[in-house]
Amino acid sequence: MKNHTIALLPGDGVGPEVTNAAREVLESVADTYDHRFTFTTHPVGGAAIDAAGDPLPEATLKACRAADAVLLGAVGGPRWDTAPRRPEAGLLDLRKALGLFANVRPVYVHASLADRTPLKKEIVSGVDLVVFRELLGGSYYGEKKRDGEVASDLCVYTRPEIERITRLAFETARGRRGKVTSVDKANVMETSRLWREVVTRVHRESYPEIELEHQLVDSMAMHLIRHPRSYDVILTENMFGDILSDEASVLAGSLGLSPSASIGDGRPGLFEPVHGSAPDLASKDTANPIGAILSAAMLLRFGLGLEAEADAVENAVAGAIDQGSLTRDLGGDLGCRAMGEVIASGVVAPRGFAAHRLQMQWG
Ligand code: NAD
Ligand code: IPM
Ligand code: MN
Repeated sequence: MKNHTIALLPGDGVGPEVTNAAREVLESVADTYDHRFTFTTHPVGGAAIDAAGDPLPEATLKACRAADAVLLGAVGGPRWDTAPRRPEAGLLDLRKALGLFANVRPVYVHASLADRTPLKKEIVSGVDLVVFRELLGGSYYGEKKRDGEVASDLCVYTRPEIERITRLAFETARGRRGKVTSVDKANVMETSRLWREVVTRVHRESYPEIELEHQLVDSMAMHLIRHPRSYDVILTENMFGDILSDEASVLAGSLGLSPSASIGDGRPGLFEPVHGSAPDLASKDTANPIGAILSAAMLLRFGLGLEAEADAVENAVAGAIDQGSLTRDLGGDLGCRAMGEVIASGVVAPRGFAAHRLQMQWG
């Protein structure tokens, strides 16, 4: 029996609640498939500021590097908004330290939820897209300056940084519907003009059979909710990807449903829901754990190479939704813990592919 070490970083707010639910599902996978998962738990974000005076303590980073994969809840909260190093800085440093340049955020509209979204059913039915968000560049990581009432965040991109995520996006489109929408602001930003140039060249030289379209980010925000079915792979820079992926989560019904995988050249990868610490829901047992649970499925598939096990988790999520087990964000009455239990008990031995499976090339 192979042992897999999973570093758990619950973080803040609803983070511990949703990671607990995801851990329970992973334990059910271990039982069902006869695996051994060793979980180690470490502080990150505000919890780490409280415990160790820094949002990413050296011991947490060391444990992440030593693990086969990392599962994170969320960081941040009003309590630490004025800390010298904010909780969010710990997450950004972790992504950088692990070299996680691609953040993959799938959005899939489950048939039985299509009438529970704020949008019309005929608009969201059948949506199946994935956002490839560049994760280590742009204004997040450029030089930051503050001089009294003047502040700046430098936005920098290099050709290799754009090229590596572009290749990953095209490889993924090959295994899906064969379409990439690259989103930029090339009418204003120099980084976006370089972005468009690099994406166009990679397409021409290596992936001419894939359909490529360029879209400016402002109109993309509009198109995304007007005709979301026309998107397959959305490729974009760090900040635009952050914003568009929260918007896209509404197509599926709730931000609480969206998972993500952050991957780089080597292991370990980092898996975390798209949502934040949701301070308004913290400690109330009302958060939707599905984003974290589907992130655990991505951990199994892309972090540990356990495809059948990932299918089993995705099938268990779909089964729970189909039988009407829902949390409050989707109009149900289940708590976070109970929702996790329903999904954990729905993990069964192989029954075939997941109804919805993200095909993706990595490495
Ligand atoms: P948020 O994602 O925490 O919450 C936005 C809204 O979505 C809230 O109404 C919340 O109740 C709802 N929501 C979020 N997760 C949910 C879930 N699992 N189930 C049901 N509803 C859910 O965003 P915010 O309020 O803008 O940010 C709060 C804090 O989280 C900030 O400190 C921010 O920096 C941090 N944050 C962290 C991450 C991360 O750790 N990856 C991501 C985003 C925001
Ligand atoms: C996310 C979050 C983070 C980001 C914050 C907390 C640093 O919003 O993962 O989407 O902006 O990347
Ligand atoms: Mn975000």
